[in-house]
Amino acid sequence: MSGIEERNGERLVMARAGEQERSLEASLRPRTFAEYIGQNTITDNLKVFVQAARQRGEALDHVLFCGPPGLGKTTLAHVIANEMGVGCVTSSGPAIERKGDLAGILSNLKPNDVLFIDEIHRLPRVVEENLYPSMEDFHFDYVVGDGPAARNLRLRLPHFTLVGATTRTALLSSPLRDRFGVVCRLEFYPPEQLTRILDRSAGILGVEMDAEGAWEIARRSRGTPRVANRLLRRVRDFAQVLGEGRIDARTASEALQRLGVDELGLEAMDHKVLRTIIEQFQGGPVGIEAIAAAVAEERETLEDVYEPYLLQEGLLQRTPRGRVASARAYQHLGIAPPAGQSQLL
Ligand code: ADE
Repeated sequence: MSGIEERNGERLVMARAGEQERSLEASLRPRTFAEYIGQNTITDNLKVFVQAARQRGEALDHVLFCGPPGLGKTTLAHVIANEMGVGCVTSSGPAIERKGDLAGILSNLKPNDVLFIDEIHRLPRVVEENLYPSMEDFHFDYVVGDGPAARNLRLRLPHFTLVGATTRTALLSSPLRDRFGVVCRLEFYPPEQLTRILDRSAGILGVEMDAEGAWEIARRSRGTPRVANRLLRRVRDFAQVLGEGRIDARTASEALQRLGVDELGLEAMDHKVLRTIIEQFQGGPVGIEAIAAAVAEERETLEDVYEPYLLQEGLLQRTPRGRVASARAYQHLGIAPPAGQSQLL
């Protein structure tokens, strides 16, 4: 293995954002479609829907974004609100615990506002069911009082746009999914686009970086802008303290090696997952629960954060009987594949 270990539990390439990171991200976040790089099919369509809704003076239809963390779901929600010229209220599935929480949020919306609900698949069932009439008919029914004195009241809501985000569509109930007029699946970004994103971010941060330096970070950012921007900030630290403050291919490469990010952008947990499958489970197939137990990570985190990139890079395969390490995984880790697989290399 390439000397990668976990550093104080720090996960540099983990695409989930912490609290502090969210505010750092906000300063780099594009605010308009013109500033947004990548996901062209999605943004081209959204531009049309936004323009059409604006011309009619209506709220945009509800939009669902699916895809691994860090690809721009939150950013696009804000871009939509900005381009619509409306407010954006932000919440998340786990934060809306009770029906009353939802009523509070909905009753504060202004006409055509965007309500962004991150991790919408984690809304409690009762909240989700109360969201349906709000999305469809823009009203919210509730009961005041108890027993014989109880009365049904109907809260009329302004038309609004619900923008939902989820890491996997399969996690969403079909009644909820069916209520979104626009469903967009975000894809990993090719390194060429990540290079442009990094150039833009370096400009905002005031970091000097040449094209080769940007490329080195981009190709090791696992197709994810959040990871690219995080690596840029760390590489900048190395360049500032150990170099002349300028990011080129050499400073980037040295810094990324010290950060434990390998040539493909994999870090300690990715290596651990692949090694576990190969060494403890003879290369698979093995169930996700068994892998999660062996690497001491939550199943959901493995499925949302680590697996998508390993699958995309062809290091891991999903079969009906479980996960299998591919010939490329053996090759990447420098492990001799079992006899039957060697001819695949
Ligand atoms: N920063 C993060 N994601 C971005 C994107 N898609 N375009 C421009 N800047 C970004």
